[in-house]
Amino acid sequence: MEYSKKVMEHFANPHNVGVIEDANGVGEIGNAKCGDIMKMYLKIENDIIVDVKFKTYGCASAIATSSIATDLIKGQPVSEALKLTNKAVVEALDGLPAVKIHCSVLAEQAIKAALSDYYTRQGIDPVPIVGKIEEFEHEH
Ligand code: FES
Repeated sequence: MEYSKKVMEHFANPHNVGVIEDANGVGEIGNAKCGDIMKMYLKIENDIIVDVKFKTYGCASAIATSSIATDLIKGQPVSEALKLTNKAVVEALDGLPAVKIHCSVLAEQAIKAALSDYYTRQGIDPVPIVGKIEEFEHEH
C-alpha cells in the first residue's frame, strides 16, 4: 500500500490532537467493522470555528485525514466546515489508497456530528443544516 508524503507527514505529526474542555460542539463517530472511533471537539464563537481538536482510536489514515481536516476548518466559518467533504480531505492529502478512503469519511462525519451537537445545544434542529450523520460500515 502506497501512502503519499503528506499522509505520512500528518500521521507522524498530526495537528490539532487533543481535547477542548469548553468545546460547544462535540461529536463522536465509530466504525462498527474496524472498531475505529473518532471524537471531534469544536469551539465556535460568532459562527467561526476558533478551535478544533480531535482524538481517535483509529488507523494511520484516520489520523492523517483528521489532522488535515481540522487544519482545513480551523479559523473558518461554520458554513465552510459544513461544505467539507471527505473528497476534499483526500485531495488535500494528495490521495489515499482506495481501501483507505472510508477512513476519511470518519473525519468528515465526526466534524458533522460535532456541528450537529453545536446546533442541538442551541435548540436548533441540526438535520436540515448538517444532514444525517451516518455511522458506516466497511469491509477490510
Ligand atoms: Fe477503519 Fe481506517 S477508519 S481502518
